[in-house]
Amino acid sequence: MSVAERNLILLGAPGAGKGTQAQRLAVRFGIPQISTGDMLRATHREGTPLGKKAEEYMNKGALVPDEVVIGLVEERLGKPDAKAGFILDGFPRTIPQAEALDGVLAKLGRAKIRVVDVNVPEATLVERLGGRLSCPKDGASYHVKFTPPKHDNVCDQCGTALITRADDKPEAISQRLREYHDKTAPLAGYYKKSGVLKSIDGVGELDLVLDRIVRALGD
Ligand code: AP5
Ligand code: MG
Repeated sequence: MSVAERNLILLGAPGAGKGTQAQRLAVRFGIPQISTGDMLRATHREGTPLGKKAEEYMNKGALVPDEVVIGLVEERLGKPDAKAGFILDGFPRTIPQAEALDGVLAKLGRAKIRVVDVNVPEATLVERLGGRLSCPKDGASYHVKFTPPKHDNVCDQCGTALITRADDKPEAISQRLREYHDKTAPLAGYYKKSGVLKSIDGVGELDLVLDRIVRALGD
């Protein structure tokens, strides 16, 4: 176990800016962003049976079964680049996932996790998701109005053509928000009990929100 280890979790509703800020934190701290949403979308692009099954849940805005994502994260956390720390974005999303994560980290002998809950009002979430453009290659998020790419419809980082995710349609957005309230929001209480939770306001310029996260972490 190392004190320099940065084991971070970004909690927050769909559209809270977890992916946007996890990418920035990854660059700042030199540790990987681990997004279960990006990993599941990659398994689908690779055409694996798991990817096909996951897509059925994702397109409806439902959560993928716990055992599928727990397996993916356990394997990912064991990779060498996660030794100095990681930023989990979109995992855990249920109490059983949080308990499984505690078990995996204990088994790997890892330092304590720190959790930042990014709060954004529901109307803003809906507006953000409705106008989001996503890079299918590196997972970067843009917004047609709030955070447009430098060149129309092209990722600033890798030049790939941007897409609108299938689950950014209105019916799927509503279902994702319901899933969040029912299954993911209780995680704030779970982490508060163990004294590792900080909450921040996720509304404002990207740099301002990043500063709030870094200050909440005390880094
Ligand atoms: P996932 O990919 O994790 O989606 P999500 O949680 O629904 O979150 P999003 O990616 O939509 O939002 P975000 O918080 O990353 O916001 P972003 O930075 O993009 O999961 C997709 C699906 O996979 C799930 O529905 C489920 O089916 C499955 N899945 C994944 N993990 C799972 C798990 N652990 N268990 C079970 N199933 C799982 O920002 C959103 C928009 O806002 C962008 O347009 C961005 O440019 C803009 N924006 C960001 N910050 C700001 C700001 N400060 N000001 C203005 N605009 C901003
Ligand atoms: Mg995301």
